[in-house]
Order: sequence, then C-alpha cells, then structure tokens
Amino acid sequence: MKEWYDKINEAQNVESLEEIRIAVFGKKGVLAAEFAKMKSAPNEEKAQIAKDLNTHKATLTNNLNAKKIELQTKELREKMEAEAIDVSLFSQKSSAGALHPVMQTMDRIVEYFASMNFAVKTGNMVEDDFHNFEALNLPKYHPARDMQDTFYFKDEMLLRTHTSPVQIRTMMSTKPPIRMIAPGAVFRRDYDLTHTPMFHQIEGLLVDEEGKVSFANLKFILEDFLKYMFGDVDVRFRPSFFPFTEPSAEVDISCVFCKGDGCRVCSHTGWLEVLGCGIVDPNVFEAVEYKDVSGYAFGLGVERFAMLIHQIGDLRSLFEGDIKLLEQFQ
Ligand code: PHE
Repeated sequence: MKEWYDKINEAQNVESLEEIRIAVFGKKGVLAAEFAKMKSAPNEEKAQIAKDLNTHKATLTNNLNAKKIELQTKELREKMEAEAIDVSLFSQKSSAGALHPVMQTMDRIVEYFASMNFAVKTGNMVEDDFHNFEALNLPKYHPARDMQDTFYFKDEMLLRTHTSPVQIRTMMSTKPPIRMIAPGAVFRRDYDLTHTPMFHQIEGLLVDEEGKVSFANLKFILEDFLKYMFGDVDVRFRPSFFPFTEPSAEVDISCVFCKGDGCRVCSHTGWLEVLGCGIVDPNVFEAVEYKDVSGYAFGLGVERFAMLIHQIGDLRSLFEGDIKLLEQFQ
C-alpha cells in the first residue's frame, strides 16, 4: 500500500490525483482487490486484515482530500497570476470621440465674445417670414431676398437662412441695451465647393442709446476678434450691402497668417472675406419698436473660419464624417 501514499503525495495536478483515486478506490481498484484477497485468507487473520485495510482506506481518503485542496489552491493561484490585469498599464486602444472641428471653432469664437460680455442666444431653426426677412428690412418684393436661397415650408414658415432673426427675437423680448451673439445652424438651397445646405453662423448685435454706438466701435471689436482668431493679420473693411445694416461692410483678412508652412486656402488677391457687418438700419429698429437707440451687427460663417484655421480646401469634407479627417482634431 505504501506506494499509493507516495503517489498521492507526489501528485502534480488535480487530474493525476483523480487517476490515483480511481486506481485506489475504483471498482477494479487496489482496495477492492485487497478486500477480495481477504476472502481466501485464513479465518483467524481476516479480522486483522479487514481492520488494516479499513485504516488504509480512511487514511488514504484523508490524504487524497487534503492533497486535492492543496492542488486546487495552487492551480487557482497560478491561474490568477497568469490572468492578472495591470490596470496601471496604458491601453493601446482608445476610441474616444472628440468635438467636431466646426464646434471647436464655434467654441473659440463664443469664448472671445463671452469674454467681451456678449450674452449667448439661440433662437429657432424653423422661422417665420417676419423674423427671417420682413423685420430685417427685407420686404416681400425686395430683390435682396434672392441673395439667400430659402427652404420653405407651408404658411410662410421656413428654415432660417441666417442667424439674423435672433437679433429680432432678442430685441422684441428685451429692452436695450443689448450685447448678444447667436451661434447656430442655418440653411440654404446651395451645394458646391464652398456651400452646403446646412452650415453655422454666429450673429452679433450690440444696441445702446442713440449716438453711443459708432462704426469705430464695430471696427475695433472685429479687428481685435480677428487677431484673436488668426494671429497677426491685416484687416480690411470693404463697403457692401445688407438690407438690415446701413452702412454695411464686408471684412477681409490678409493671407499672411498662413505664411510659413504654405497657404493652400487663400485668394489671388491676398485677401479673404470672413464676415459681414454694419450699423443697424433704422428700419430694423422700427420693426421691433425700439426708439432713440443705435447699434451695430455682424454675422460670420463658422465653417469658413474652421477651413481657414485648419487649411481645409473643400467645405463638404467637414460634413462627410470621414474618420481620417476627424481623427486629426482629437
Ligand atoms: N445675415 C448676413 C448673412 O447671412 C450676415 C450679416 C449679419 C451681415 C449681420 C451684417 C450684419 O449674410
């Protein structure tokens, strides 16, 4: 019997221990064989043999159980060590999202004007004719309505073609003075290299007492803002026309900001148009029943800014959701 004690003792794993258990305790096992032999032993020895065999049986059972627990514990420990995860290690995989470049640009623009005490307003994307056109000095017969190809719903409702209706909504619901910007999506029936049916604008409006707001104020803040966005650029104001401002101007920046690593997005004139602005037309104040006030307004396209800052040539690529492009803005 002694060899079985040794075998149990030396077993290396739970499986080999199980084989030993079967060899000892199985129907055709060692103990069964020994008990069988007992039958042919002389009668006077039987009692002693039975006693010895039962002692072996009990002891071997104990040893087997103890060894089994020992081996199971060892195997579990080894398994846990092998499968341990070091949570302090850097993971190679990371699929966290990021803000879209247009939204990053929008945030930066809002950040500037918020720091200048402009409140942020939103307005509605579905607008009526009055807020989008009429109150902005764009009467029904006016040819300037053709400047903006509009998506119309029934009953004179439409998708706003610019953020300027937020000027009207803000003035109609608050008393002057006003200092606000309105970032948001706008919609036009247009699609090519530089136009998409949906894009984003940021509107600005400042209203104060009559005689308090001048073109010089407008010029100062826009120059300061454009230098904040583009660094050391030259800024040029060009006379223009918008029905809701008089006088009106379009603002250009010089291409110098992209010297150095080469400028892919620039015009042959060396100037780039970046926004529209002007002194609020008296007809607009009349429409919202404001009296004895003066103000300036401006509007800019956020995608345009994003394209200039990031040197993106085709506006449409900002809307294609191409991961290769977007990953660069993580
Ligand atoms: N609403 C004008 C546009 O969409 C921009 C603008 C806003 C111009 C405010 C002047 C003043 O083109």
